[in-house]
Amino acid sequence: VSWIRKRDLHILTVGILTYTNDQRFQSLHTEGSDEWTLRISSPQPRDSGTYECQVSTEPKISQGFRLNVVVSRAKILGNSELFIKSGSDINLTCLAMQSPIPPSFIYWYKGKRVMNYSQRGGINVITERSTRTSKLLIAKATPADSGNYTCSPSSSDSASVVVHVINGEH
Ligand SMILES: *[C@@H]1O[C@H](CO)[C@@H](O)[C@H](O)[C@H]1NC(C)=O
Ligand SMILES: *[C@@H]1O[C@H](CO)[C@@H](O)[C@H](O)[C@H]1NC(C)=O
Ligand SMILES: *[C@@H]1O[C@H](CO)[C@@H](O)[C@H](O)[C@H]1NC(C)=O
Repeated sequence: VSWIRKRDLHILTVGILTYTNDQRFQSLHTEGSDEWTLRISSPQPRDSGTYECQVSTEPKISQGFRLNVVVSRAKILGNSELFIKSGSDINLTCLAMQSPIPPSFIYWYKGKRVMNYSQRGGINVITERSTRTSKLLIAKATPADSGNYTCSPSSSDSASVVVHVINGEH
């Protein structure tokens, strides 16, 4: 059984031997079994494409598979900088986008520190794994709530927003 990359018709593996200098490609096989697995370590978006396994029977048989490698990124809805009047609420919604699996947790940071929700009353965090969203609600913001808020899902890169809470009308 051989594994071929269709993009450039590169033969990646033949049997258990790797035929490319890229050692991330490996063929996994247990003797006596019918399974020949192509394993790609540290996949990159550029690895996306069709891969085909070919079996050297007569006639030859083959089967293609489409692989899509995505980079999971979080996104906080709205602008990357927010201006909020003192006394109103801060409402941040974070989405863990294109994550193949739902995140097992989503942390919120203020500056470099994980937020401590008990330090100040009026903080509400609602995380929904199924929709991959987390909402951070801070009631009656004061200038002390200004800062760089980061949402960090377990399964993707983080996203940040800088919040300025301003006193008065100016
Ligand atoms: C917070 O913002 C989200 C999205 O903009 C909105 O759906 C939600 O109703 C808001 N929640 C509150 C309590 O303002
Ligand atoms: C969070 O803040 C509360 C109140 O200031 C404090 O008692 C608690 O130890 C803090 N928790 C952590 C994990 O820092
Ligand atoms: C906000 O914090 C994140 C995470 O620490 C950092 O990557 C980003 O540069 C910060 N943004 C600003 C404007 O300081």
